[in-house]
Order: sequence, then C-alpha cells, then structure tokens
Amino acid sequence: MSKMFRTVRGMRDYLKEDRWRLNYVNSIVRELYYKYNYDEVSTPIVEFFDLVAAKAGAEIREKMFVFEDKGGRLLALRPEMTAPIARLYIENLMRSAPKPVRLGYIGTCYRYDNPQRGRYREFWQAGFELFGSDYPESDIEILNIAYDLMGKLGFTEFKIKIGHIGVLRSFFSVIKIPDELQDTILGLLDKREMGKIEEIMKENNIPENAVKLFYNILNLKGKEYTTIINQLNNLLSEYPEVLGEVEKFTIILQLLSKLDIFKKIEVDMSLARGLEYYTGLIFEIFVEGLDIAVGGGGRYDKLVELFGGEHTPAVGFAAGIDRLIIAMDERNLFRKPLEKKILITPLTPRQIPACFITASKIRELGYKTEVDVLRRNIKRALSYAVSNNYSIIIFIGEKEEKENKVTVKKLDSGEQHTINVEEISSILTPVVNRY
Ligand code: HAM
Repeated sequence: MSKMFRTVRGMRDYLKEDRWRLNYVNSIVRELYYKYNYDEVSTPIVEFFDLVAAKAGAEIREKMFVFEDKGGRLLALRPEMTAPIARLYIENLMRSAPKPVRLGYIGTCYRYDNPQRGRYREFWQAGFELFGSDYPESDIEILNIAYDLMGKLGFTEFKIKIGHIGVLRSFFSVIKIPDELQDTILGLLDKREMGKIEEIMKENNIPENAVKLFYNILNLKGKEYTTIINQLNNLLSEYPEVLGEVEKFTIILQLLSKLDIFKKIEVDMSLARGLEYYTGLIFEIFVEGLDIAVGGGGRYDKLVELFGGEHTPAVGFAAGIDRLIIAMDERNLFRKPLEKKILITPLTPRQIPACFITASKIRELGYKTEVDVLRRNIKRALSYAVSNNYSIIIFIGEKEEKENKVTVKKLDSGEQHTINVEEISSILTPVVNRY
C-alpha cells in the first residue's frame, strides 16, 4: 500500500478560507506600507546560520531548523526577519539609498516551537523596519504603525506593553554584568524564570543592593508613566550613566502621551524580549483572550554594525499574522464581501465556445464565473448550482446560440430571462471583489 503523507508537525496547509484570511490581513498590512511609505521587500527563507543565530537569543537559536547544504554551508530556515532585512539593507541599500530607509516584509518564519494554539513551527510575520534614525520620532512612527494596524484590522481592545532594554542593559553594565550574562538574564526575564535569574545573580556575586534595585526597577509598571519615570529617576539617582537611558525613554513617553495611541500604552519595566539585538525601546502587543503577544518589536541600534555595515540606528516591529487571525476570528472581525458566483452551462458541446465568450464578458464585469466542464444537463447543472451557492446560472443552447442570446436564471428569485449577450451588463451590475 502506498504511504499517506501528512503536513510536517507544526506546519499547516492553507485552504480556501484560511488563505482568504491571510490575504485579508496582508492587504491591510500592504495598505499601511503604502500610507507610511514603506517599500515591500522579500528575502530568501534560507539564510546563513551565523546571520540568523548571531543575536537570536538562546531560546530561538535552539529552536532553529539548521542544515548543511551540499556545498558544506551551514544554513538555517529564518526564525525571524529582522536579521535578514538588516543584511538586505547592508548588501543593497546602505551605500546608495537616502536615509531613512523604510522597509516592509511579509513572509514565513520557522521555529521548532511546541505546537499549540497560536504557536506553530511555520508561521507568518508582517514587519516594518526603519533604518537610519535614532531620534524618538522613529520609535513613535513604528509604535503608531502597530497601533494603526490593530485599528484597521478592527481591534478596539488591545494593549501595547512598552519597556526599555537600554535602561536595563546600562544598569547591568554599571554593576559589571558582562554582555553575555546580560543576554542570559534578559532571556530568562522574557520567559519569566525569576528563580534562575536569582541563582545567576548569586553565582556571579552581584551585590545584594544591586539585585534589590534591579527587582525594584522590574516592579515598575502601569499607565501612570510620570510616576514610573519619577521612581526610575529616584531609584537610579546614583547611576548617571543609566539616567541617560531613562531620559531617552522619558522623551518617548512624553511624545506618546500627546497622541491617540497613548490610551493603549502600558509601561512595564520587566518587559524583555527573546531576541538579543534590542538596545532601547521594546514593545509587545496583546489582545484579550490570548496570553501570547500578537506582535512585538523595538530599537536595535547595533545590529547593522554587527553585520559589517556602517553605524545605522534602526527600529521596527513584526506582527504575528497567525495569532492576529485567531484573535480576529474570535471577534468576528473578518468581513467577507458577498460573493456572486455564476455558472455557465452549454446544453450541447457545440455551445462550448459561446459559453467561453460569454464567460469572458461576465468576468470583465467582475464576477466569479465558471464554465461547466462536466457536461451536466440542465437538471443536474441547476441542482449543483443551487446546492453550491451560485447566484446565477446561464444556459446556452442551440436556439440561444443561433440568436446570439443567453438564458439567465437568478437562483434566489427564480427569475429567468433570455437576453442578447450584449445586454448582460444591464442585468449584471459590475462588482468589485477584493480578495
Ligand atoms: P518576535 O516577538 O520573536 O519578534 O516575533 C514577532 C511575532 O511573531 C510575535 O509577537 C508572534 O505574534 C509571532 N510569532 C513568534 N513565534 C511564533 C510561533 N511559533 N507561531 C506563531 N506566531 C509566532 C521578532 O521576530 C522580531 N523580528 C520583531 C522585530 C522587528 N523587532 C524589530 N523589528
């Protein structure tokens, strides 16, 4: 017996409705690429392991699909797209394109996650990356896009948690925690493994007062940003290097407080991200009913340089399309345009060309149109059309063909007319179906 193949665990086929939903979300993402002037680009799914592993963070690095090609190159399926987009920027745009460079992308990513609701091994991301500015207005632009995307998809209740890796890292640096250990601690913080963080602090003899101060910083969260900033300034008053980062965060928050998006913002100083390239603002988007983020991003001012480019500050974010689709489905946010399908049936094989000619005319009017390819007779064609939600069936028999006519039957009302082919547009008003 031949073997039955299935999709690989954690990967999915997209049938009609799934693919329609994906296209729907993508079309809204693309509308934002247009409105914010982002150029859509794409990169290969396969990259050098060293590129995607460099700052992926321990967790994602372990979850990568890694393989050697026949030429002995160590490659990986991309687990995310910021590193590939930074590579694309350096390779193609850094020297020639005027700054800032705004890039958008939609594509699949691969992580060997434990498959569950909203967590897959192949999933879709839609992202926005802005290269060349370290001013807070570029952080605001990225946050605003995230906010607009959520609104355009139809979400009303969502929150954008924001934190600042620059504050945490500069604090770690002054208390002499080396970069690698910082990565480990931030990775654990992202997974909320507080016990392990405590162990590491002990193992590395971090002074108790510094550890306590660190926990006090992590406890700062909420909507009252001025209180949080005051507390940060108080807690860190003896660390002027860190206050510089607090100041950067303050300016971002002050700008945000003047914009619509502010009502969705919640500060959380304990926010950390699995990826290690972040240097400043970080954020994640959450919706009610899903405890995993539907999107996330932040500032990464050193990645381009790390990959051999010139110093280029950058900020961006990626939305998890599959999770957005789950949340949109739960809220009934997909609005499918009413579809009008038309079936054209030749009554004998001689009318096949007439049917194709008529079908072309009707497709020009914007209708989904099929010519029957199973040679059904009138009765079978009619019952098939009724039970499969066609709105109109058109018959062309010998008599119609001779007189250059068609018989149009509307299936909702039962109304039937025999009309000239040229008159079709008078009974079928043009439609525009977007997806
Ligand atoms: P990330 O938070 O790792 O960030 O992924 C972004 C989004 O992808 C997540 O918020 C989530 O919605 C979705 N996602 C992640 N893993 C899975 C999975 N296994 N199944 C389904 N969805 C998933 C990044 O990847 C960064 N590159 C974002 C960024 C862009 N930062 C700056 N620019």
